[in-house]
Amino acid sequence: MLSGIPATSLWALRAKAEEHSKPQGLFKDALAAKWYHQAQPLFTPEVQEQYSRTLQKAIAVRTHILDRLVIRHFQSHPNGSLLELGCGFSTRFARLNLNQGHWYDLDLPELIELRGSLGFPAAPLHWHIAHSVFEYEWLDYLGQEKPEEMLILAEGLLMYFPLNQVRELLGHLQNHFKGAHLAFDVMGQLNLKAAQRAAIELDSPIFWGAKNMQSICSELGLTQAGDLSLSTQMRQEPAYHKGLSLLGRSLLNWSWLSRQLGGTVLAQL
Ligand SMILES: C[S@@+](CC[C@H](N)C(=O)[O-])C[C@H]1O[C@@H](n2cnc3c(N)ncnc32)[C@H](O)[C@@H]1O
Repeated sequence: MLSGIPATSLWALRAKAEEHSKPQGLFKDALAAKWYHQAQPLFTPEVQEQYSRTLQKAIAVRTHILDRLVIRHFQSHPNGSLLELGCGFSTRFARLNLNQGHWYDLDLPELIELRGSLGFPAAPLHWHIAHSVFEYEWLDYLGQEKPEEMLILAEGLLMYFPLNQVRELLGHLQNHFKGAHLAFDVMGQLNLKAAQRAAIELDSPIFWGAKNMQSICSELGLTQAGDLSLSTQMRQEPAYHKGLSLLGRSLLNWSWLSRQLGGTVLAQL
């Protein structure tokens, strides 16, 4: 059984499987649907109780925003690399099926083992690293990658650790991959408390949120490198409006409000 932070990855798996089953969802993800089916015994009542339609939508949009970022990354750097820290049940490699670059998925050994048992299609150029992100010897596995051609994703990960620990991790990433891009998500003032209440039920406290993207970048010593905020993404991608009421749409288009909901930060190390 999964517990603590690893159990939160089940929410993301379910959200992707459900998006797959929508006739007009943001993406298709047959592998997530298959894994979700196989992983049913892991979905304890605690995991199910904290899941909601809002969480499903938020995870689906976050996934799609990052998918678009990854596609753009490999268009600019066909031989570049992608590293997913705390990958959980990420199925991005199979979902995007880009067949280029080097892909590294890193998570704790129990999660990597579980992914293996669910059956990840073997592919050259795709590696699974079974390690805590805080035990830094894993950084040497990526020694041959060029930082300027590297994108690192930390999707649903950093908020679960105190800021000091996150700063230490970022320091190590900067030492090894100075100039690489890093995308991670943050809770804003409006949804932090609700997210904390849900996460604590799985014994995985959320330690921090952000006032805005710039402030969290400067607090963490990062340079903001793009705008992946919800309001900008909503303007660029009409598909994100689906399923929202007129009021919901107008509110999310209001950039002040959407800043209060947090979102995805793109920074340069
Ligand atoms: C909310 S889940 C996010 C999963 C995935 N990124 C996604 O969005 O579907 C958090 C993930 O962080 C992983 N994790 C927790 N502590 C970790 C650590 N010290 N090192 C690496 N991964 C860790 C958990 O196992 C879990 O898979």
